[in-house]
Amino acid sequence: MQDNKTIIYLDNAATSWPKPPAVIEAMERNMRESAANPGRGSHAMAVRASRVLFEARKRLGKLFRVSNPNDIAFTLNTTHALNLAIHGLLKQGDHVISTTIEHNSIRRPLETLKRMLGIEVTYVSADIKGNLNVQEVEAAITARTKLIAVTHSSNLLGTIIPIREIGEIARRRKVSLLVDAAQSAGVLPIDVGGMGVDLLAFPGHKGLMGPQGTGGLYINPNLELEPLMQGGTGSKSEAPEQPLVRPDRYEAGTPNTVGIAGLAEGVSFILKETPEAIHAKEQQMTFELMEGLQSIEGITLFGPDVGVERSAIVSFLLEGVDPSEMAFLLDQQYGIAVRAGFHCTPLGHETAGSIETGAVRASPGYFTEKSDIVSMVEAVKEITRTLRGGR
Ligand code: ALA
Repeated sequence: MQDNKTIIYLDNAATSWPKPPAVIEAMERNMRESAANPGRGSHAMAVRASRVLFEARKRLGKLFRVSNPNDIAFTLNTTHALNLAIHGLLKQGDHVISTTIEHNSIRRPLETLKRMLGIEVTYVSADIKGNLNVQEVEAAITARTKLIAVTHSSNLLGTIIPIREIGEIARRRKVSLLVDAAQSAGVLPIDVGGMGVDLLAFPGHKGLMGPQGTGGLYINPNLELEPLMQGGTGSKSEAPEQPLVRPDRYEAGTPNTVGIAGLAEGVSFILKETPEAIHAKEQQMTFELMEGLQSIEGITLFGPDVGVERSAIVSFLLEGVDPSEMAFLLDQQYGIAVRAGFHCTPLGHETAGSIETGAVRASPGYFTEKSDIVSMVEAVKEITRTLRGGR
């Protein structure tokens, strides 16, 4: 069992770690000083709690270039945000375009609505490296197409999808665009207006450096979604219906104020460092990791080649070795945290040709250092030698 000081954490695609100290301090301060229920009551502590939500929304608005922060609804995570978008928008008979690199958080709600409402879904095929031909996305549009639902970056392959080009198509063809920013928020620059994004689902606990249990959905003001949940909002309490006013319409129930206090600091950290600088550093670590791993005999790397812009995700397979065995040995013998298996994206594994085996995924973050990459490559080399020798 490793202590935190000796862990080499390469599982940032699942959740980022470590967090900036200001995130942890803000959460502790919130619990001590401002942990009343926001928007429910007008006493001083409730007002302070409301202020936490207001500040976080304002900073997120700045990061994603959202002119009215009230168009951002807080959710528990990206999955929750994607469900709010998909269930809230689609009606019987609608057609949706998605892709073959999606996470289950897009695929499962779509498949559920296929069964429940008879919606139709076209999954446009990405190539083996996760690249999408945007012309094929446009060609899939029919008179019934209501939504294009696509990831910004593959959580298996790291491939970055050209959202701006898809946004231009969506706008011209009057189709709404939902983007899963699970792997991009805080790392790739996002400008919802400029990119033609109508719905942006994002996690608070990955690139934005906040805690788990935080996330959100930007909803274009021209788009009306049916709320996923109804209940108390602290506003229009006399009305039996869910209020129309945003963000209340989409935020029934007491929010995760302490988590959002941390998220607000995480977003401040990102605004200060800038997504461009964060992406540049992660990119460097990613390419170094890829170069080291591909020098090992028997290793197959998935996704775009070294040098091609991508997210900080390196999925690989050592011939003849179960990915879970590799991940277990990395963890137990070297204190290196990676994620093995199918990464909640069987579609992505089918696309990459790894559906029979799964893969090992190493995902550096902003705090990953060159020495971590060197240790990871050395560890995989040593494991390879040991397993090869013993077989
Ligand atoms: N969606 C996260 C991942 O890819 C949890 O690991």
